[in-house]
Amino acid sequence: MGPSGCGKTTLLRSIAGFIKVDSGRICFDGRDVTGLPPQERDTAMVFQNYALWPHMTVFDNVAYGLKLKKVPASEVRRRVMGALELVEMVDILGVEGIESRKPPELSGGQQQRVALARALVVQPKVLLLDEPLSNLDAKVRQRVRVEIRRLQKRVRITTIHVTHDQEEALSIADSVVVMDKGKVIQVGSPQEIYRRPQSAFVAEFLGSSNVLTGQLCRADQTVSVGGIKLSCATAAEGKATVVFRADEARLAGEEAQVQGNVVVFQGDVEETLFVGSAFRHFVKIGTELVMVDSPESSPLRRVKVVVPREKVQIYPLEG
Ligand SMILES: Nc1ncnc2c1ncn2[C@@H]1O[C@H](COP(=O)(O)OP(=O)(O)OP(=O)(O)O)[C@@H](O)[C@H]1O
Ligand SMILES: [Mg+2]
Repeated sequence: MGPSGCGKTTLLRSIAGFIKVDSGRICFDGRDVTGLPPQERDTAMVFQNYALWPHMTVFDNVAYGLKLKKVPASEVRRRVMGALELVEMVDILGVEGIESRKPPELSGGQQQRVALARALVVQPKVLLLDEPLSNLDAKVRQRVRVEIRRLQKRVRITTIHVTHDQEEALSIADSVVVMDKGKVIQVGSPQEIYRRPQSAFVAEFLGSSNVLTGQLCRADQTVSVGGIKLSCATAAEGKATVVFRADEARLAGEEAQVQGNVVVFQGDVEETLFVGSAFRHFVKIGTELVMVDSPESSPLRRVKVVVPREKVQIYPLEG
């Protein structure tokens, strides 16, 4: 995952062999495929707009790759129906529908299933999905992403699923790769990426994080931020970003005694918004605005913002 223009599609196209890479190697299971043309790489790609042939029936769309490979007709039929069954299109359209219906007569979600079946039918070693859910409405998207994950677990094909939706990435991936400006920024399990973002960019990209600017001091091993000093082992000097999640902070009254290994900021609640799963309080700390999520709306004005010390990440400023 990564923001628009960071190179996700370019990377998929390189893996599929549609783009010749200038440097580096692409290996599947240790086998170097860098010099191979697309048809010898055993990959299949599902494009963002599905790229189904509108004038062909569902059956012919899915069968296309097999016919190119000169697979015998009886086997084509068996495999096409198998792939359509896998994505539950046989239940939806019935055999007759599969023989006669064309993509423009299907819903977005159904077209997406057909595109998946067309990719799966060739039994690729690597399945490449380029934002396969971005054309679906929010509710269908939630359902189809669960189905894609179940399907992937069943067919056990290595799948690279591109998205710029952090929730989608965190909820279906075994391993998440965060990209920015053509570079891989972090690789990890969804939990690692969420709980321990390794840069301010990743933390901000995941959303619901507070990103403050602090000043590192090597001499006394601290960072100054939001009017307080935090001890922090640092070999760097100068600016740093200090990051913590809105749902890992809590509010306390300004007179409250706070115990434990925590970081405490003083501030004023400026605004409270209901965001569905929580109330989000916007607290002014010096010149910074900090978000604090809690299950109930707080009546407090002058507050302490309390964050467990281990939840506060400090990054020397990149560059
Ligand atoms: N063959 C190529 N060689 C060099 N640069 C390319 C090539 N193809 C695309 N680019 C550039 O790579 C950058 C990334 O484009 P890409 O389409 O991969 O982004 P993306 O992450 O898929 O974005 P989006 O989320 O908007 O789809 C763009 O600036 C694009 O112009
Ligand atoms: Mg793209």
